[in-house]
Amino acid sequence: MSDATDLTRRGVLVTGCAIGGAAVLAACGSSGGPAADGATSPSSAAAGSGGAATVLGTVSAIPVGGGAVFEEPKVVVTQPQAGSIKGFSAVCPHQGCLVSEVVDNEILCPCHGSLFSAEDGAVIQGPATSGLAPANVSVAGDEIILG
Ligand code: FES
Repeated sequence: MSDATDLTRRGVLVTGCAIGGAAVLAACGSSGGPAADGATSPSSAAAGSGGAATVLGTVSAIPVGGGAVFEEPKVVVTQPQAGSIKGFSAVCPHQGCLVSEVVDNEILCPCHGSLFSAEDGAVIQGPATSGLAPANVSVAGDEIILG
């Protein structure tokens, strides 16, 4: 379950351009099937039968020790150590709020103050009792790919 994608990449900061996607995210928490059905239409992702990839942004934008929260695909991307990019669901397992930021390798949920590890999504501080689900992110060239 701790299948957080660990990539090797150097860089800092993401341009938060979420090219929405149908085949996004591993744990959205919605009770209706596969990911977003219409929230943001993917303009370049091929919503096909195999699993379309969505470009989240560039690797060169994720700060070491920090991260970027993508609200539409509901993914948080972190770089806990230089060259290590990881992705998790941005949906807090406590009551479903979106996490808001990553500071000092801790992912914060603003609703009730839960903190999660930017390394593996584990709970650092409750009230959440389970960690953030891993998201299938990878790096291709300078782009962060989801899916
Ligand atoms: Fe995240 Fe409550 S919903 S801490």
